[in-house]
Amino acid sequence: MKKVLTMMEEELKQAFADSGYEDRFAKVVLSNRPDLCEYQCNGAMAAAKAYKKKPIDIANDVAERLKGSAIFSMAEAVMPGFINLKIREDFAAEYLNTMAGDSRLGLDLAVPAETIMVDYGGANVAKPLHIGHLRSAVIGESIKRMGRALGHTMIGDVHLGDWGLQMGLIIEELRDRRPDLIYFDESYQGEYPSEPPFTISELEEIYPAASAKSKQDEAFKERAQNATYKLQNGYRPYRAIWKHIMAVSLADLKKNYASLNVEFDLWKGESDAQPYIPGLIDDLVQKGLAYESQGALVVDIGEPGDAKELPPCIVRKSDGAALYATSDLATIIEREKDFHPDRYIYIADKRQDLHFTQVFRVAKKAGIVPEDRPMTFLGFGTMNGKDGKPFKTRDGGVMRLEQLIASIDEKVFERIMENRTVSEEEARETAKIVGLAALKYGDLSNQAAKDYIFDIDRFISFEGNTGPYILYTIVRIKSILNKYRENGGDASLAGILPPASESEKGLALQLMKYNEIMETSFGELAPHKICQYIYELSNEFNRFYHDTKILSEEDKERQAGYVALITLTMAVLTACIGVLGIEAPERM
Ligand code: ARG
Repeated sequence: MKKVLTMMEEELKQAFADSGYEDRFAKVVLSNRPDLCEYQCNGAMAAAKAYKKKPIDIANDVAERLKGSAIFSMAEAVMPGFINLKIREDFAAEYLNTMAGDSRLGLDLAVPAETIMVDYGGANVAKPLHIGHLRSAVIGESIKRMGRALGHTMIGDVHLGDWGLQMGLIIEELRDRRPDLIYFDESYQGEYPSEPPFTISELEEIYPAASAKSKQDEAFKERAQNATYKLQNGYRPYRAIWKHIMAVSLADLKKNYASLNVEFDLWKGESDAQPYIPGLIDDLVQKGLAYESQGALVVDIGEPGDAKELPPCIVRKSDGAALYATSDLATIIEREKDFHPDRYIYIADKRQDLHFTQVFRVAKKAGIVPEDRPMTFLGFGTMNGKDGKPFKTRDGGVMRLEQLIASIDEKVFERIMENRTVSEEEARETAKIVGLAALKYGDLSNQAAKDYIFDIDRFISFEGNTGPYILYTIVRIKSILNKYRENGGDASLAGILPPASESEKGLALQLMKYNEIMETSFGELAPHKICQYIYELSNEFNRFYHDTKILSEEDKERQAGYVALITLTMAVLTACIGVLGIEAPERM
């Protein structure tokens, strides 16, 4: 369905052209004087320079032509040359009814639909999933859902860090604790047990212990590096331990991501890319791109337009080990082979910016992907505590995700119990849904690249630009609709009627922006724009709700019109929270 802004611009273009001006001046924007108009066109100012005329004269010419327009109830030229615009009420009603009658609420499918690889999550196996990975999961899930809503084929890959030094550390720590394990008996030739020698809680304790030890004990660290090297070169007993680590950790990760409502299409990891590394290195050398520098193998990535000199990408260390960048390049080879994506989007901490610049440039230089293939890195900022420093637990440790979620749920639960309209059991269930929404919305409502303050009290507030406020609005509409039905209301009496009050018009205008907001938010990879939109939509709804008697309206047709309007409001809000990866409870 055509966007309202486009429709308005088409009319203005015609009016500019008919008045003898170029139609490129016909840009329509949201009004910055909502007291005077709803939209405005400032093109007469620019046209004035081109035509050496007074802006107001041009504005008058154009406004004159818009009289009798099917879209505008008002087109008024005001000094020094603005064209103030208002939308016709019957046009608004017609537009909204078309939206309401469409299962996609007027959202067009993207043409052409693309296959887009979204690399997000990025948890590291055997290390606890902590809040550092929260942002990637939450933002990535939303980007994926946004693209899907627009009809793209989105492939979400968790790209686990499952091939690093943490594996060697765990192996050596395990050896110190339990030297009698069969994996450490070099003479053993048989099959290895299928049961893991540790549980997830043991594993979670082993890794931090090993990591701490390696910082004090140089010999231990060397052993761990050596074990990692042996594992990566296929040493059978360590492969067996690695498989156990993978199985135990993956089950836990899946549980964690599921509790966040984050779903991946692919559960691949760095280890899956390893078979492509030798070929990659050969190719880089053969193409003359990789060369030796201080024993390492590197590829220059500098380009003429660079503001500062960028360091080369190291693809092999002097000890022969592959690196993070090597894994990422090899992964692209695999993705090209399996999916041949039209586009790549990576979501990780913004401090990885250089890494991705290096990877993308090498990938293109080496022809792994064509030069014009979009590869985007969406780098996000840090989640800070109220002290402005990276978020920590009270004792200074890194907060575990499970812990974080539990503490939010508890607070929301207390909130809900304050009103005590539902059973404790229902309150617990609702708190889970609302708590997750508070957490995700608290994250998504910020521009991704910015650091933000994790302020639990603000996030769980039922007022302001928060998840609970949006959910509360949806629940409120649900409850009105339920009561309307219980009272025997007949919604088929009317569709959405031309708005008759200011607040009704405000709600209508905000609803009409839906398709445009979805497209821009995805185009800019900016979930916070959806948040801002539904925050304003909720405000408009609540304003309307406060000055309109819906359930006690005597005029049944009028009432059915309201019901149609708020039904659409609920549908739009629900669609929007859906792409944010948030759900609404029945009651709260
Ligand atoms: N595992 C990495 C980390 O914890 C994030 C992975 C991001 N994705 C990628 N393709 N490099 O920092």
